[in-house]
Amino acid sequence: MALNTRILLGLLSLLTIGFSADLPTLYEYYTEGGIKSGLSVDQPYFTLNGKNISIYSGSMHYFRIPPELWQDRLRKLRAAGLNTVETSIAWNIHHPNINDLEFGDGGTELEAWANLTGFIRLAQQEDLFVIVRLGPYISADWEFGGLPSWLLSVETMEIRQYNAYFLSNVGKYFGEMLSILSKLQFTNGGPIIMFQVEHELAYSPYPNAEYLQILYELIQYLDIVELLSSCDGASSGQNGTLPGLLFQTIEFGSEIALNFGKLEEMQPNKPVMAMEFYSGWADHWTEQHRTRDLIDFRDNYEQALAWPGSVNLYMFHGGTNWGFMNGANNGVGDNSNFQPITTSYDFDAPLTEAGDYTPKYDAIRELMKKYNTIETFTPDPPEVKGRRVYSSLDLNGQLRFENILRQAPDKIEDCFQSMENLPINENSGQSYGYTVYRREGLNIPANSALTITGHVRDTVMVLVNGVLISNALTSSDRLDTFGYWRIENGIVLLTTEDLNNATLDLIFENWGRVGFGNFYKQFKGLTDSNRLFLNYEELGCRTNWTIYPLEFKRSWNQNLSDWEAVDGSVTGPALYKATLTIYDDDITDTYIDMQEWVKGFVIVNGIVVGRYATALGPQQALYLPGPWLHKGDNEIIVFEHSPWPASQIKFTKDPIYNNP
Ligand SMILES: *[C@@H]1O[C@H](CO)[C@@H](O)[C@H](O)[C@H]1NC(C)=O
Ligand SMILES: *[C@@H]1O[C@H](CO)[C@@H](O)[C@H](O)[C@H]1NC(C)=O
Ligand SMILES: *[C@@H]1O[C@H](CO)[C@@H](O)[C@H](O)[C@H]1NC(C)=O
Ligand SMILES: *[C@@H]1O[C@H](CO)[C@@H](O)[C@H](O)[C@H]1NC(C)=O
Ligand SMILES: *[C@@H]1O[C@H](CO)[C@@H](O)[C@H](O)[C@H]1NC(C)=O
Ligand SMILES: *[C@@H]1O[C@H](CO)[C@@H](O)[C@H](O)[C@H]1NC(C)=O
Repeated sequence: MALNTRILLGLLSLLTIGFSADLPTLYEYYTEGGIKSGLSVDQPYFTLNGKNISIYSGSMHYFRIPPELWQDRLRKLRAAGLNTVETSIAWNIHHPNINDLEFGDGGTELEAWANLTGFIRLAQQEDLFVIVRLGPYISADWEFGGLPSWLLSVETMEIRQYNAYFLSNVGKYFGEMLSILSKLQFTNGGPIIMFQVEHELAYSPYPNAEYLQILYELIQYLDIVELLSSCDGASSGQNGTLPGLLFQTIEFGSEIALNFGKLEEMQPNKPVMAMEFYSGWADHWTEQHRTRDLIDFRDNYEQALAWPGSVNLYMFHGGTNWGFMNGANNGVGDNSNFQPITTSYDFDAPLTEAGDYTPKYDAIRELMKKYNTIETFTPDPPEVKGRRVYSSLDLNGQLRFENILRQAPDKIEDCFQSMENLPINENSGQSYGYTVYRREGLNIPANSALTITGHVRDTVMVLVNGVLISNALTSSDRLDTFGYWRIENGIVLLTTEDLNNATLDLIFENWGRVGFGNFYKQFKGLTDSNRLFLNYEELGCRTNWTIYPLEFKRSWNQNLSDWEAVDGSVTGPALYKATLTIYDDDITDTYIDMQEWVKGFVIVNGIVVGRYATALGPQQALYLPGPWLHKGDNEIIVFEHSPWPASQIKFTKDPIYNNP
């Protein structure tokens, strides 16, 4: 090698060092000289291991991101200049039925998402600190606020209270979860610097300090030593915290002085932190797509940083409510207090559902350069992989409802009862999906009507001899007719001619359980508050019902048989399939355009990617992550409620919103 070249290489390596290795990583900076102490709030600012720190954090939920993309999303968060990622932990991901706990290798349905150690170690690898919200209740617009639905099957159970059944199950779950998390604490060499206990307890109808105290003691007993915190709105005072024991944080998106001022009053001589600072909002079906204006967001965020405050952006990246895991709210304006959240949880967040950068992302990056005075090595924002519009697919199979039921994994002959009380899944009931209640051998005279008292949870399709006779969801005003949650004591005409030996099917869909506010006992399907009448005769419990729980679990979805050619003869809900054959290696994300379909959900290679309800808006397209596709044949299945499937499955590059 010529001398000149060697000198040149030497200079180049110096330059490289100058660019990257000059600055320490966050870890190097905060652990230099050994780890002696964790996050401290013993003064009006945070210190970590004795060094000043402001927490610049963003929320992203491992359960809303394909595990294959965790690393990409974490790196994008770090590249924005933030130093911490916050995630809640969803109890229902980790405790799918009473007897099974799942942390990534238990073989349950949501196994891939349950790899808590994997997510938190990846965050550390990407040079981020971690804040964990332990729950057991997390809200988060997630199904039942993160609680497992099997809790509901025990009559005496009271969620989020000093209640033996609730707390003994929390104990079982926390015992395993915290044995994993305790190893990942900052002072044990991990990235977790703070744990939040419960969430928004002050907004519960029965905030209970005894309950919170028990959680606090349990968590400490289970070797958690880092800072413990709580989070509520500032106007709730201290009802959701334990002053002196839990570090109080608050949630808001504007009126910085009012909120931080109030917090300083309640908790003097400590740092202030917004644990939820809203970057946008979740969408409900039947409502407009919600966004938060860039300037409004940026100005308020900057005021919070300048206070100076620590801030966790909720959300930094929203992601997706896969499968049937969306939550719901019980807001006003609907007589049954039910507002289900869409499959997309884009949230109008700085990083979109599909991981694209937005102007909010750029604004955060700029503000971090200005306010984060501790200089550490920050990676460049990784390149965004483009999305692909795959060719439209013709349908190559249909599976009639009768043939779906023939393959149903369980068949229960009993009185009708709610989903949660069905004797399946080791007596944990059915948590998600659809439940079919069937009566056979009915003699139904012409012009007979079926009445269901109370509200249906949440919608019901009625089939008589396999023909859908209730209203398909072709327009949003159909929500004000029989079969939908808004209607109380709904009545539907079953037949205009005499029918002998008829079969009646009631197909209930669970649209997600409410996870905020007053939401305690919520059952799905035919519940104790429903009674059924065929004209004036009660179709009571003691008549013979056959119940088919349809959970659409992955292995079952992948094993369906009896497909027929699509022939236009379907008279009710059915499954339709198509094959996406990929010949090249350019396998990237896409969106499935559902605009020509009516109502249902989509399965890709066995995974339920989400629901669609095109007439209800706002969401019209479903995010399909590239890692769930492979070279060769990929199977896409649509469950369509109406007898009118679209003729093709189509793709689109970007999400589509269509306001109702
Ligand atoms: C830590 O922050 C406080 C409050 O801003 C400041 O008074 C103190 O000088 C800082 N300490 C160091 C070592 O920078
Ligand atoms: C958990 O995630 C980590 C990081 O992605 C991965 O290395 C590990 O194999 C995963 N474990 C399981 C059981 O999937
Ligand atoms: C705290 O809870 C009590 C009892 O539920 C209630 O009376 C009080 O108004 C609450 N305080 C605030 C600030 O909301
Ligand atoms: C009634 O219908 C069922 C199918 O639903 C059939 O198997 C049965 O033979 C019928 N019984 C009579 C008496 O027609
Ligand atoms: C229920 O079904 C059983 C046989 O499966 C029959 O003997 C009984 O009469 C039925 N009861 C009613 C009320 O239809
Ligand atoms: C797949 O289907 C076959 C035949 O219907 C059945 O024997 C088998 O148990 C099914 N496997 C799963 C995993 O459902």
